Formats: sequence, C-alpha cells, structure tokens
Amino acid sequence: MATMESLIGLVNRIQRACTVLGDHGGEGSSLWEALPSVAVVGGQSSGKSSVLESIVGRDFLPRGSGIVTRRPLVLQLHKLDRGQAEYAEFLHAPRKKFADFASVRREISDETDRITGKSKQISNVPIHLSIYSPHVVNLTLIDLPGMTKVAVEGQPDSIVEDIDNMVRSYVEKPNCIILAISPANQDIATSDAIKLAREVDPSGERTFGVLTKLDLMDKGTNALDVLEGRAYRLQHPWVGIVNRSQADINKNVDMIDARRKEQEYFATSPDYGHLAHKMGSEYLAKLLSQHLESVIRSRIPSIIALINKTISELEAELDRLGRPIGVDAGAQLYTILEMCRAFDRVFKEHLD
Ligand code: GDP
Ligand code: NA
Ligand code: MG
Repeated sequence: MATMESLIGLVNRIQRACTVLGDHGGEGSSLWEALPSVAVVGGQSSGKSSVLESIVGRDFLPRGSGIVTRRPLVLQLHKLDRGQAEYAEFLHAPRKKFADFASVRREISDETDRITGKSKQISNVPIHLSIYSPHVVNLTLIDLPGMTKVAVEGQPDSIVEDIDNMVRSYVEKPNCIILAISPANQDIATSDAIKLAREVDPSGERTFGVLTKLDLMDKGTNALDVLEGRAYRLQHPWVGIVNRSQADINKNVDMIDARRKEQEYFATSPDYGHLAHKMGSEYLAKLLSQHLESVIRSRIPSIIALINKTISELEAELDRLGRPIGVDAGAQLYTILEMCRAFDRVFKEHLD
C-alpha cells in the first residue's frame, strides 16, 4: 500500500479536527489525550526556539524578550520530496499558503495577540502550523511557553503559575513525549525541564533530554556526564545540540549552514567526537520521528476505540439536533463525523 498516508500525518489531521471541535486537551478531552505528541519544555532562554528552528531548517518563530510564546504552537512537519517547493499553512487561515517564513513569524505573533490581546496573557488555545518541506521529517511538536519564575513588566503576576499549569497539562498526559531542553552552561540539577520531567515521568521512559549551548561551556569542562547518562538517567539517549549564537542570528546565518556547522562541531570535537553520529538537531529530528511513529503504532487499538466513541457521541449530538441539518454547528459536526469514520478505516488498514 504505497500511497498509505503516514501515521503521523493521520494523527495530525485528528489533532486539527480536535481543535476545530474545541478540544484542546483540557478536562475531559478524551480524543486529544489519546494521541501521542511531543511537547517541548524548558526554561526561558534554554534554546527551545532555536532547537525547533533547527529541526525545521528555517527561521520562523517570533523573537524577543519576555514571554514570547503565549499560546501552544502545534507544529506539524510534513516531508516533501527533494526539489519540491516548501510552504507553510495555518489552520486558522486554511486557504492561504505562506512561502515566505518572515510572514509565518508575523502571522504567529498576530494570531497570538488575536486571542490574548496585547495584554501579554497566555491562552491554552493552540495555533496549528503545518510546514511542508524537503528539509523536514514527518514529526509533530508542540511548542509551549518557557517556564519562568518572575513575571516581567506588564504581565500579570499570575502568569508564572498559568504557564506552569499549561505546561503541566501537556506533560502529565501519559501519551505525551517530553522534549526536555536544558542549557549545558547551567547545572543540570537546576534545569526547569529536568525538574518537571522528574516529577511527571520519574522512570524517564517518555522523556528525551536535549542539552543545548555545548559551545558555551567553560573552557576545560565538558558535558559527558550528562550526555552519557551518568548525571541524570533517562531511558532514551541524551542528544547534545549546538544552535546558532545570538551573534549568528544577528548576522543572519542560514539555518541549513548552521546545521552543517553543528555537525562539524561534533565531528571535530575532542570531547564529543565518539558521539558525533548521535548528536545534533538533524539526528534529534530523526530520533523523534521514529519514536513518535512507533508510539502511534502501538496505540492504534486504543485510538480506534476512542474514535468510535467520538463517532457515537457525534451521532447522538446530531440526532439531538435533528436531521437534516441546516445550522452551521450541525454541518460542522457532520463533517467531523465523516472525518472520524475515514480515520477509523485508515487506521484499521495500518493494523493489517
Ligand atoms: P528559548 O527562550 O528557550 O526559546 O531560547 P532561544 O532559542 O530563543 O535562545 C536564547 C538565546 O540563546 C538566543 O540568543 C540564542 O541564540 C542562544 N542560544 C540558544 N542555543 C544556543 C547554543 O546552542 N549555542 C549558543 N552559542 N547560543 C545559543
Ligand atoms: Na532551564
Ligand atoms: Mg522561545
């Protein structure tokens, strides 16, 4: 079955349908919860945005001081064949193709403000962004606000707790794969990401540890204790990363060049040379894609069960509304019902 849609692509479509239904993974949102996803967590300035941009191979995230990410960003990557033109699309603007990544960045900012106002509050309503590119692997990542200890000027004091609650609402779910970002130039014991991962996933079975800023460590020191799993043990191997520095960003160093420089850094490093083939953002992307695919595969039976439950609920809702349906709400439910039935069929094909 050569044309079969990738499992990750299929789950992407269900996640988009959930958002349209108003299911953002809050209380009682059973379908979203059942879907495996990868959530990116870390303290402010730990390098989250840089890791995401490197995985995508493009500059596209809003930058600035303070809390820039104020809504979850569900980033769905779709691999295209070499030579095909890359573009981006938002769920909230379905017919518009973005070929220019500076406009993707602007759209994320504008769409964030549209829900949160300019108030700098946060909102748990996700933005869905799909990127189609030959430079990506099939993967879905959820970018969350950086964990912080103090509200900055103009932000409500409750924001520290609001962010903590939002991040937890994702990582507490047993189906959430945690991409825990920590900077190498800080003691790993003080990493916000690791502190949280330790709480919600003590056995380390669903946490991927990422160590950024290896190039910024004090001369004469290295991060082998962390990267080789002695400082904090996880079931998956740690991945070291060298992102662009602020100076590189100011000089507009191209992301694809940066990935190459990162690879060179590891290949020529006296400390990390023996680990070079398991380091860097491209390796991380492949590792996560493979893991996500296999987790989805193992959950197919429970996902099918939930889709069937959702179908029954939607059918009951449609009966309540009465058919034929003229109203928009009914028409939307009907579309989603059809989509669920299609997923059910395709998932079953994947089982065979
Ligand atoms: P975020 O707040 O977690 O999203 O962090 P950013 O990705 O925005 O990174 C914060 C700052 O650290 C930026 O100036 C980046 O250029 C810099 N940075 C991130 N990762 C690295 C790295 O691996 N090496 C160096 N030298 N700088 C980095
Ligand atoms: Na941190
Ligand atoms: Mg950021």
